[in-house]
Amino acid sequence: MGLDGTRPFLLFVLLLFLRACFSVNTDDTFSKGQSLSAMNTDSISSKSGRYELGFFERGTPPKFYLGIWFKRLVGQKIVWVANRENHLSDPSTSRLEFSEDGNLVLLEASSKKPFWSTNLENLPSNSTEAALLDDGNFVLRDRSNLSTIFWESFDHPTDTWMPGGKLGIDKAGKVPKQLISWKNSDDPSLGPFSLSLRIYPNGSSEFILQWNRSQVYWSTGVWNGETFGSLPWMRSNPIYNYSFVSNANETYFNYSLYNSSMMSISFIDSTGQLEQKTWLSANESKSDPWDLLWANPKSLSDVYALCGAFGIYHDNTSHPCDCPKGFEPFSDTQTTLNDWSSGCLRRHPLQCENRNAKKDWFQKIPNITSPINWKAYSAVSARRCELACMNNCSCTAYTHNSSGCLIWEGALLNMQQPSDGGEAGQDIYLRLSADEPQISTKGTKWKVWVIVAVLVAATGLILCLSVCFSIKRKLKHKGETAASSNDLMLFDLSTEIHAISDGTNCQDSDKKRGKKDVELPLFSYESVLAATDNFSTANKLGEGGFGPVYKGKLLRGQEIAVKMLSKRSGQGIEEFRNETTLIAKLQHRNLVKLLGCCIEGDEKILIYEYMPNKSLDFYLFDPAKKQMLDWGTRIHIIEGIAQGLLYLHQYSRLRIIHRDMKPSNILLDSEMNPKISDFGMARIVGDNELQANTNRIVGTFGYMSPEYAMEGLYSIKSDVFSFGVLLLEIVSGKKNTGFYNHGSLNLLGYAWELWRDDQSLELMDSTIGYPTSTSILVRYINIGLLCVQENPVDRPTMLDVVSMISNEHVPLLTPKQPAFTVGRNPTINLTENCSINSVTFSVMEAR
Ligand SMILES: *[C@@H]1O[C@H](CO)[C@@H](O)[C@H](O)[C@H]1NC(C)=O
Ligand SMILES: *[C@@H]1O[C@H](CO)[C@@H](O)[C@H](O)[C@H]1NC(C)=O
Ligand SMILES: *[C@@H]1O[C@H](CO)[C@@H](O)[C@H](O)[C@H]1NC(C)=O
Ligand SMILES: *[C@@H]1O[C@H](CO)[C@@H](O)[C@H](O)[C@H]1NC(C)=O
Ligand SMILES: *[C@@H]1O[C@H](CO)[C@@H](O)[C@H](O)[C@H]1NC(C)=O
Ligand SMILES: *[C@@H]1O[C@H](CO)[C@@H](O)[C@H](O)[C@H]1NC(C)=O
Ligand SMILES: *[C@@H]1O[C@H](CO)[C@@H](O)[C@H](O)[C@H]1NC(C)=O
Ligand SMILES: *[C@@H]1O[C@H](CO)[C@@H](O)[C@H](O)[C@H]1NC(C)=O
Ligand SMILES: *[C@@H]1O[C@H](CO)[C@@H](O)[C@H](O)[C@H]1NC(C)=O
Ligand SMILES: *[C@@H]1O[C@H](CO)[C@@H](O)[C@H](O)[C@H]1NC(C)=O
Ligand SMILES: *[C@@H]1O[C@H](CO)[C@@H](O)[C@H](O)[C@H]1NC(C)=O
Ligand SMILES: *[C@@H]1O[C@H](CO)[C@@H](O)[C@H](O)[C@H]1NC(C)=O
Repeated sequence: MGLDGTRPFLLFVLLLFLRACFSVNTDDTFSKGQSLSAMNTDSISSKSGRYELGFFERGTPPKFYLGIWFKRLVGQKIVWVANRENHLSDPSTSRLEFSEDGNLVLLEASSKKPFWSTNLENLPSNSTEAALLDDGNFVLRDRSNLSTIFWESFDHPTDTWMPGGKLGIDKAGKVPKQLISWKNSDDPSLGPFSLSLRIYPNGSSEFILQWNRSQVYWSTGVWNGETFGSLPWMRSNPIYNYSFVSNANETYFNYSLYNSSMMSISFIDSTGQLEQKTWLSANESKSDPWDLLWANPKSLSDVYALCGAFGIYHDNTSHPCDCPKGFEPFSDTQTTLNDWSSGCLRRHPLQCENRNAKKDWFQKIPNITSPINWKAYSAVSARRCELACMNNCSCTAYTHNSSGCLIWEGALLNMQQPSDGGEAGQDIYLRLSADEPQISTKGTKWKVWVIVAVLVAATGLILCLSVCFSIKRKLKHKGETAASSNDLMLFDLSTEIHAISDGTNCQDSDKKRGKKDVELPLFSYESVLAATDNFSTANKLGEGGFGPVYKGKLLRGQEIAVKMLSKRSGQGIEEFRNETTLIAKLQHRNLVKLLGCCIEGDEKILIYEYMPNKSLDFYLFDPAKKQMLDWGTRIHIIEGIAQGLLYLHQYSRLRIIHRDMKPSNILLDSEMNPKISDFGMARIVGDNELQANTNRIVGTFGYMSPEYAMEGLYSIKSDVFSFGVLLLEIVSGKKNTGFYNHGSLNLLGYAWELWRDDQSLELMDSTIGYPTSTSILVRYINIGLLCVQENPVDRPTMLDVVSMISNEHVPLLTPKQPAFTVGRNPTINLTENCSINSVTFSVMEAR
């Protein structure tokens, strides 16, 4: 069995060898009924005997193609290939023949679909014939009238432009006549480089060399009737006569040789250079009998992306391309065939998108003249530039120089390492996977010494660090575990480590009081800058009463909300202390989680987990968005807020009064779980201290209980009042303030009137449809009204509220008339009663 497969191939090779000695076929035409078989190495030759058309093989395993070459120079230069993208693999059954309709087709017995075909319609099917003309043009013509040509190979050039051939543009919208390089010297399939004609609106035209059919890297300059702009020597050249033809159907250049017995070709090499070669004399001792007349661009270094993605070019004619450390050649033809276009591949793929993976690192590549397609990034320091790149998984490299920070995305192309004396390059930092070892072991003696030195230094550093850290640990409390991932981040940003030793910790105010605290990670200012893209406006989520809130992304991809306490609001520092010391100790699923803080000069920054669904008010009061809050979600939100408040009042290590409960302070996570946020106004009260007094009333009108708004008295019952307002707002989908209806002053009054008239269901938000169980809603409205009663003593505690909410069998009291409903205008009362207090209303809006 195995022999059967190899026998035809061996035979074919033998025949190829024989053909070199004896010419098998000397006809220049063939027609219907005849065929050219690859097995028999059939071919046709032009009349003069200069050109030959037949089958040739390239590569291992061998691939077979139909092509044209100079007959005398077998295997030297293929000038045309029929099936460059569709190679044949079984020579024993491959044939070129005429199909029924008169087209030329290239077939393999096993395949119905032709590998190549002239693919024309309306041919006189019985009278077509194929001929190889003296100029190397292979034509399909009418046997009864030889000047009627249906198809010619000159209209379909591959990588070679022959004298008489056309290169240009077909105005009928057919395939442009352009040259496209072979992939490498063994593979005629489409390579990355092409030569085509560009025509300007003013009618001028020039030839351009392009990479990937898009990037122009060389041009001939505009044709002036005699010569191309950048090829002035052409005017007086003794070899070629170029002419420009433009008619209604096509625009092209062709050329002829003054001495027509000369053999000469222009072609685009697989290294991206346009070359003109002439067969001047057969010099047996030369490996390539063709003489190179000229090549453009002159130097390989001017070929765009010669070395492919991540490849580095250096001036070494025998070995121009290399891969940087951590990369390897994409294909092994790179070294053997000088095929670099496929570039280099990472040995270890990047894991950036994978949050659990170790962090990537950057490999320095020195002295690179800048590859194109960079993006300028506004980072000032090299460190920030690195962070910006590290933080964005699409960033593959960066460089930082006097002109700033440049970053690259995707593949780096056109990297060049100039040799001595060349223009000095810059250091580029290439992203590599954490799996890629950072120290290369192969190398010369000095490299070994460097490694030894680095190892010694590293050991020293590790020793030092571990000593430092154990001392630091002993100084601090034992046993308590901090959010380790963020500690890591702190550790990464070694630039800020001094800040900790300075004691500028988030908890420093508490530490001085000798309290034992949960450790709150301190973020470096640079990391916050990088995470929020320099506090870019695109990342701004909103403006709170104390300053703006930004969205950000940590190095590991975790999304965060960054709240800046503005320098201007005098309350900043006080609130900062509060919020950090308070919330760092609080852990509850209905409280927003503080991840850390950051202090930079006057700048006080809090870093929270990011809540993708913004805040409750964003949905609740928007006619369109409120549809997303169905009854199930609303009940879930009410329950969650109640649980969070209960925790603050009752179960946390301290008794905390929030003092600013309102929809914009209820954030929603991706599953619409409510999380209480904004502890800037919260107060800790002693266990026995049920009520406290303040001369600074802070809070939001509409949610403040009467005793707090007017007398500055606050207690857990003030939060209960706010909760009641919130509950009624969630059920009704209406804002408490700004609600005027049925003569009621506000939502509370309206709810009360409906309750009194036994019509509570009227209150519910009718825009989202009827709830499945109305009794629950009536119960909730009852609870809400209990919470907003005028006298704090009458209001339930959050513990009562939670038990009333979670257990339908707990009987409910009848509420008394709520505060702020009739007869009293709160605005007027406020100013009168609180004239001695400094009243501050925060107007925190949607974040
Ligand atoms: C082509 O030749 C075949 C056989 O000689 C004949 O049957 C057929 O009618 C011819 N077709 C045309 C279009 O002349
Ligand atoms: C051959 O074809 C050409 C154009 O294709 C035409 O001008 C000429 O008259 C034809 N000759 C004969 C003998 O049909
Ligand atoms: C036509 O436009 C091209 C490109 O803008 C320019 O290089 C060329 O000189 C122009 N030719 C003439 C005749 O103005
Ligand atoms: C080549 O060009 C195509 C289309 O013009 C583009 O989609 C592709 O990304 C380019 N390839 C590279 C490696 O830039
Ligand atoms: C160059 O080619 C053109 C067009 O074929 C021709 O008219 C001209 O005579 C040729 N020039 C020479 C010097 O042969
Ligand atoms: C352009 O094409 C049409 C249709 O193929 C043909 O009739 C005409 O002669 C062509 N013109 C030139 C100048 O070749
Ligand atoms: C270019 O092609 C035209 C039209 O086929 C022809 O008249 C001219 O002689 C050719 N020029 C050269 C230099 O071959
Ligand atoms: C034309 O080229 C041939 C082969 O290169 C050479 O032998 C011949 O002398 C040349 N003729 C002229 C007039 O230069
Ligand atoms: C043939 O080529 C070799 C190598 O390029 C050169 O040394 C030799 O002089 C050439 N011989 C002739 C006759 O041109
Ligand atoms: C060029 O590359 C070859 C092969 O890697 C190497 O042996 C040679 O030293 C290099 N030459 C220069 C000047 O770098
Ligand atoms: C990464 O950078 C690109 C372009 O600079 C930007 O479009 C993209 O949004 C960035 N991705 C992230 C996650 O910042
Ligand atoms: C970088 O290139 C410059 C100019 O060729 C050269 O002087 C310098 O030594 C090179 N530096 C490195 C690290 O290769």
